[in-house]
Formats: sequence, structure tokens, C-alpha cells
Amino acid sequence: MKPIRVALLGCGTVGTEVVRLLDEQAGDLAARVGAPVELAGIAVRRPDRHRDVPRHLLTADAAGLVASDVDVVVEVIGGIEPVRTLLLDALRAGKSVVSANKALLAESGGELFAAADESGADLYFEAAVAGAIPLLRPLRESLAGDRITRVMGIVNGTTNYILSAMDETGANYGETLEEASRLGYAEADPTADVDGYDAASKAAILASIAFHTRVTAGDVHREGISAVTSADIVAARTLGRTIKLLAICERVDDSVAVRVHPAMIPRSHPLAGVGGAFNAVFVEAEAAGQLMFYGQGAGGSPTASAVLGDLVAVARNKVHGGRGPRESAYAALEIRPIGQVETRYHLSLDVADKAGVLASVAAVFAEHDVSIAAVRQEGRTDDASLVIVTHAAPDAALRSTVDKVAGLPAVREVVSVMRVEGEES
Ligand SMILES: NC(=O)c1ccc[n+]([C@@H]2O[C@H](COP(=O)([O-])OP(=O)(O)OC[C@H]3O[C@@H](n4cnc5c(N)ncnc54)[C@H](OP(=O)(O)O)[C@@H]3O)[C@@H](O)[C@H]2O)c1
Repeated sequence: MKPIRVALLGCGTVGTEVVRLLDEQAGDLAARVGAPVELAGIAVRRPDRHRDVPRHLLTADAAGLVASDVDVVVEVIGGIEPVRTLLLDALRAGKSVVSANKALLAESGGELFAAADESGADLYFEAAVAGAIPLLRPLRESLAGDRITRVMGIVNGTTNYILSAMDETGANYGETLEEASRLGYAEADPTADVDGYDAASKAAILASIAFHTRVTAGDVHREGISAVTSADIVAARTLGRTIKLLAICERVDDSVAVRVHPAMIPRSHPLAGVGGAFNAVFVEAEAAGQLMFYGQGAGGSPTASAVLGDLVAVARNKVHGGRGPRESAYAALEIRPIGQVETRYHLSLDVADKAGVLASVAAVFAEHDVSIAAVRQEGRTDDASLVIVTHAAPDAALRSTVDKVAGLPAVREVVSVMRVEGEES
């Protein structure tokens, strides 16, 4: 049987493990695919630095490798260019593509799918969201007959590690980030993770697939975790909650709302127990009800597992005929701006301990049509704290309420403001 020839682009954390698994499992893969899967070449930036892979396979000429006699291109380089051009060239030439690149899929997914459609090639990218966890295929295929209403998850291990550690130790954000970098849980430049860009790309991909529409990273409302304070963590704990960076994709009528931000969730919520570098995604569908996907969201070997799964799928299609799912964006839903998205807020205020404070604060909420679900007031000698949790209201109304409350003479300090998720509104 003619082998399926694979071009591997990139041989770093993930690529090294792809090479290892291709070698170790060659016999099983050939049996599962129906033909041997053969590594035709590995493109890297600096071939001389890769001593653990066969020298004759290495090249610095990624474009040349893509243009050579290969059937499938596996991309684990990352970033937008030159990868976008390389993958468009591959797809236009009818070569199927497997990619782990969330940034590229979230920015140029439509363009890549169009190129795949023209030539009849496959485009798979399970590893781009939540590492090893089978998530995109269940959304694309298993739930294709259902109507998904909401996807909410923890899709970034670095921020989850930092927030879990802050919750456990009481340390502040800066100290915890430093510790995470020292232990290898955060990159030297952690911006993409801590500012929510990585999660926003993943949220865009999840929303596009779940709601059969096209969402790009720029459509996602994004807030990172650098503003989360120890006071927020304490406030959450006092109320039996914990803080997580959540990616939330919702279908609201004929629109889709996609956001990434820290939020308080009850400690009893299934996502609250997801600690350290793990990922978990909660999916709600009309007929299926609630589903939860959980596992290792990153790391060389877990991510390579997802890449290999995709490789087997596209190789089988090459051998036996047939094609994987195409882009499904027929619903063409509008993007709902964050101001119109209904959320709930938790507010913790330091206030003067005198009569009428609660009434003046409550009046601001009423003025903005924001209804209060719970209030707790604790007096001290000359000041007091007021904790308020709202019912669901448009985000814009909640923000204006917080701004106005912060300016009240009786309010000494707004100690913590955080969205609340995962409980009945
Ligand atoms: N690491 C994870 O846990 C994880 C999880 C899920 C998804 N992903 C995704 O997987 C992809 C790869 O991640 P990674 O962590 O394996 O990255 P990495 O360790 O930084 O490896 C990147 C590889 O790409 C090569 N490369 C960079 N620019 C290149 C170019 N212009 N031409 C050819 N090769 C080039 C590098 O070559 P040199 O080695 O010679 O520099 C290196 O081998 C990214 O899209 C990432 O988002 C990673």
C-alpha cells in the first residue's frame, strides 16, 4: 500500500512528541489508517539544534517541504505568518492540513476552509483548543444534530494555575505569576495567556463550531487576570465561590455573545474543581442537556495525541476516500456587543458605617434598572463593608452602576467587582 507522506512543520514541544508517537506507533497507525504513515520531512527554523530527530529529515525550507511530494501537512509552528501562507499553499494543492494553531484558526479559519473546499482537502485542528481533550470533533460531529445553547470553559492552563495558586496560598497576582514562571507554568512572555488572548482565540473557534457561524478572535470580549486581586479571591471565598478565567460562548436569539473574563463561580460548580494546568469545558445543548469535557489542555504529549488523532482521520480519508467536515457557518449570527450581554455582578464596597448608606447605594442600582439578588452588610467601628450580588442585567447597565456607586460620598472604596457565573440568576 502506498504510504501517506507527512510533512511536519515545527519540531518544538508538540512537534517532538508527534515525531516520537509516529515512530513508536508506526505499526498500529498503519493498521488503523490502512497504509503506512511516513514522515517525509521536518521543517524547523534551526535544523542544527535538533539532534534527536533523523538529520536527513530536517530542513529550514518549510515552503519547499510543503511543495514536495507529500499528502498531509501537520503544522505545529504557531503564529500567523509564515504559517498562513504555507497552509494556504498546501490546501490549494489538495494537501490535507492538521494544525494545532489556535491563533491562526481564530484569525483566518474562513480563508483556510475556503482553500480546503476548493481543492477537496481536509482541515483538522482538534489540538488548537484544550490540548488533548476531544472537544471540537464532538461539537462538529456528535452534536451536529442538536442545538447548542452555551459553551463555558476553562481553556487556558497558565491562568488557571495562577488563579488556583492565588486561591490556595492567598498570595497576590504578581508573586504568583513569578512563581508560575519559575516552575515553567508560564511563558517568559506570559501576555498571550494572562491577558486572555489565547483563551479568546479558543473561544472564537468554539463559538464558530458550536453555533455554525463565523467568529474571529477580534469579536471576542476579552479581559485577562492581571487585575484580579487577593481581595477579590477573599471576597469570593467568603461567599463560597472561587475565581476562574472563563471562556463563555452563548447563543442569544439570532446573535452570539463570546467573552473571556475572570468570574466568580460557586465552589460546588463542576468547573470550580478544575485545578492547576487542567482544562474543562461545559457544553449545554437543547436535547443532550449538559456535557462536560475534562483533561490536559496543553503539554507536548497530550497535544500530540490530538494531532495524531487528526492525522489518522485525514490519512484514512486519503486511503479510503471521503472528506472530513467542512466549515459550517450558514447561521451567520450577529455578534452581540458586551454591553448588551446579560451577566451578574458581585460588588464588595468599603462604606461609611452610618444610616442611609445602603439606601443610597440601592438607589443607584434602581436608577439603572439593576436588581439586587443579595446584600450583606458588616459594620466595624468607623466603617463597614457592603457585599452586593445582582440579578442578571445588561453589562453596560452594571458597569454604569458600578461607576456611579464608586462616586457616592458614603463609599470609601470599591474593593472588588467581579462577574458571577454558574448559578441561577
Ligand atoms: N505547547 C503546548 O502545550 C501546546 C498546546 C496546544 C497547542 N499548541 C500549539 O502548537 C503549536 C506549537 O507549539 P509548541 O509549544 O510546540 O511551540 P515551540 O516549542 O515554540 O516550537 C515551535 C517550532 O516551530 C519551529 N519554527 C518556528 N518558526 C518557524 C519557521 N518560520 N519555519 C519553520 N519552523 C519554524 C521552531 O523551530 P526551532 O526549534 O528550530 O526554533 C520549533 O521547532 C502552536 O500553535 C501552539 O499554540 C501548543
